Parts: sequence; C-alpha cells; structure tokens
Amino acid sequence: MRTELLIDGEWRQGSADGRIGVLDPATDEQIAEIADGTPSDAIAACDAAEAAQVAWAKAAPRERSEILRNCWKVLVEHTDELAELIVREHGKPIGDAKGEIAYSAEFFRWNAEETVRIRGEIGTAPSGANKMIIHHHPIGVVAIITPWNFPAAMITRKLAPALGAGNGVVIKPPKETPLTALRIGELLIDAGIPNGLVNIVPTSTAGDWLDAVVDHRAVRMLSFTGSTEVGRVLLRRAADRVLKTVMELGGNAPFIVFDDADIDAAVEGAMVAKMRHSAETCTAANRFYVEAGVLDEFSEKFTAAMGNVKVGSGFEAGVTCGPMINKKAVTDIDGLVRGAVMDGASILLGGEPRPGAGCFYPATVLRDVRHGSTISQEEIFGPVAPIISFTDHDEVVRMANDTEMGLTGYVFTQDLAKGLHIGERIQAGMIGLNRGAVSDPAAPFGGMKQSGLGREGSTEGIYEFMETQYIATNW
Ligand code: SIN
Repeated sequence: MRTELLIDGEWRQGSADGRIGVLDPATDEQIAEIADGTPSDAIAACDAAEAAQVAWAKAAPRERSEILRNCWKVLVEHTDELAELIVREHGKPIGDAKGEIAYSAEFFRWNAEETVRIRGEIGTAPSGANKMIIHHHPIGVVAIITPWNFPAAMITRKLAPALGAGNGVVIKPPKETPLTALRIGELLIDAGIPNGLVNIVPTSTAGDWLDAVVDHRAVRMLSFTGSTEVGRVLLRRAADRVLKTVMELGGNAPFIVFDDADIDAAVEGAMVAKMRHSAETCTAANRFYVEAGVLDEFSEKFTAAMGNVKVGSGFEAGVTCGPMINKKAVTDIDGLVRGAVMDGASILLGGEPRPGAGCFYPATVLRDVRHGSTISQEEIFGPVAPIISFTDHDEVVRMANDTEMGLTGYVFTQDLAKGLHIGERIQAGMIGLNRGAVSDPAAPFGGMKQSGLGREGSTEGIYEFMETQYIATNW
C-alpha cells in the first residue's frame, strides 16, 4: 500500500511532521497513515509537473494516446486489487467498486481515442482578406481536486483528458480516500506515464495547499469535483490568477414518474438512480415526484425494492449499500429525515441510523413529503428517497426546476414525445429518460446553474484542458 506523496516520479515522505489517518467507515478503525502534504510539497509537485509537461506536450499525439491506452489496460488488469482498496477506505460494495474501476479505466481508453482526434480548423475571413487557422494548445499545469465518493473515477475523468491534451497535473485526492489515488499513481508510472507528469499530494490543510498551487506560475487551470459550497470558494480563489476552471458541483435531481410510466421499469430505474454507489453520488435522485394516479403503486413497489437493500460492509456477500463516509454524514442524513417528518412526511421504511460501530444508515422511503421541505432542497447523499405527489404537468416541471442545482433529472413515461418535451424543460445538464443511469465516459457530464461549469467526458472533455489559438495569415 502506498502511503507517501508522489512528486516528480518519487515517493516522498513530505515535509510535515504529522500524518493523516485513513479510516474504514465500516468499522471506524484506522487502516493506514499517509504523508500529509504541505504547501512546499505542493509547490515541488507543481515544479515537477511544469518541467515534465514540456516534453509531454511535444510528444506525438499517437505516443500520448498509446500511453493512455496502456493506462486503461493496466487499471483493468488491477481491478480486483484497486476495488478492494476502494472498499477498505470508502466502504462501497465490492461489485460497485469493481464497476468503478471499469468506469475509471474507460476514461483512459476513451481519451486515448480522443487524443489522436484533436481538431483544428482553417477558414477564410468573411472579408476575404486573410486565412484563419484555429488550433488547440495544452493549457500547461492543471490542478485537480477530487471527492471521496468515487476514489478512482473522479480522478481519471479529469486526469485522462488532461494528459491526452498534453498537460502536467498535480492532484489533491480527498483525505478520506487517498490510498486508491496513490496506488493509481504508481500503476500509471508502470504504464509509461513519464516521471513528474502526474503528482499526487494529499493534505489535511486544503486551504494552504490551494493557495500554494493557485499562486504557482505554471498552474493555469483548476478542475474540481465536490460540493457547490467548496466550488464557490475555489472559483473566488481561481479568479485571483484568472485560472480556467471546470467545476462539477452538487446535484438535487428530480425523478418524475408519470401516470403512463411502466411502473416496474420506473422502480428499477429509481433503485439505480437512488442507490448506485451507496447513494453517495451527485447524480442521485434526490426527490421523487410521482403522479397521483400511480402514487400508491409506485410507493408500494419502490418501498419493497428498497426493503431488499442489504446494508453492511462492502466485503459482505449480498450487501448492496455500504457505510456512509463518516459519522457526520449519518448525522446530516438523519437531520434531513427528522426535518421532513416534522414537516408532515410519513416514514414507509427505515428512518433510524444503525447504532454501533460503522457509519450505517438504512434504506429509507418517505411519503407525503412537502415540496419545499429542506430534504427536497438539499443534497441528501444517502439512501433516503422522499416521495412527493403531483397532478399537474406544468407544476411538476416548476417543482423540478425550483432549485439552484441542475445536474441530473430523470423522467419515466411510455409517451416518448412527452418524455422528451418534459426532459427539455428540466434545467439539468443530464436527463435519464426511462433510465436510472446517465454516466458514461462518452457522454458530456456536467451541470447547469450552480451544479457546475464545463463538461467532462465525451468529445468536449479534452478541449476543456486546452487553449484555442487563432492565427491570421495569408499565402
Ligand atoms: C459524482 O457523483 O460526482 C459522479 C457520479 C458519476 O460519475 O456517475
């Protein structure tokens, strides 16, 4: 298990005296201690990325592409080992952890393919006076800050296109789940990533780390996935050096079930949209709006499906929901449930944290939730499904959009035209129409409103890590 900082291709203890303890959220026990990166470690990482990036940017796209493809292969070959590391530090069920490694690795394969297809354009100015050549440069050094809910995939979704575009990177993985990140760093070097190009510096002092990195002359971009609250702080700080930013922030996804939906399919979709990766995803369905005619049937079948969720250690056979990341997460979820009940909701299932060791919260379904109740406005990030009934289609669109967030929305109806029409009216970057999962490396991931800026994945993702240059000339 790697527990040092990865700087300039070397494993360093870093300059801090203290170390960061990593806990297993299923047992509350410490499983490792890792080096704690200081601002001077972060600066050394930026220096290394700056130096390594020059040759990498000059390498032929095909060469970069083949190394990225090798990264995909190496990650896939280490699926079992990486998945176990994810379960130990994050807690998600082993099947989800293996799925996460496949998803993470795929960002390398997809971006290996994009790397050799970076477009340019040539045109004639409207006046006819000159030609216009438009092409793309790597941006330089990119700072990457990632969350704990996908210890591998949230890194590779940024890292693979950043590298494909020709950049160097400095990564701050979350202090809750640094072990997967550090092992990925080691595997990428085995896969052929040059020393110094990828640096990984976990820290317990995120503000100091950020200041050091943002003020480093070579850093030109900040790519972040995490809460909207932290995103706002980072945007303010990035403004000091006018850094390019990509922000994947919070969600508050509506899940709308119309009277004409196939209810069994809606329940299946609801289980995926709510419970994927222990319900700790920013794409998770946060509010279930169900049309009055199918309210009873949907509530009953969905509650039965949620009742089959087995909560426990991610290593235990049959477990489909692991622990929450820490005790505070459990307390926050519980507070939202208590608030909804005080506002008139009734509990159909669950509703009480599991006492004892570990950070467990049971699958919970609430009915008669009031739209506007705090639980419908805040990201739950846990296995709780609030059901709100509706009768009017314009009203459900208004309620779905009654939030500052706009990451994901889900619509279930057998009338495809209606589904597309409603989907278009929902202010969210991603819509699942009769589907509970939207994430795909080949699709543009990102939000509207305060859910973020920019897109990851798809053909757009790699351009976020590049500058556009235009040359006016004649020949
Ligand atoms: C996230 O929760 O931040 C990402 C979810 C996903 O990629 O599906």
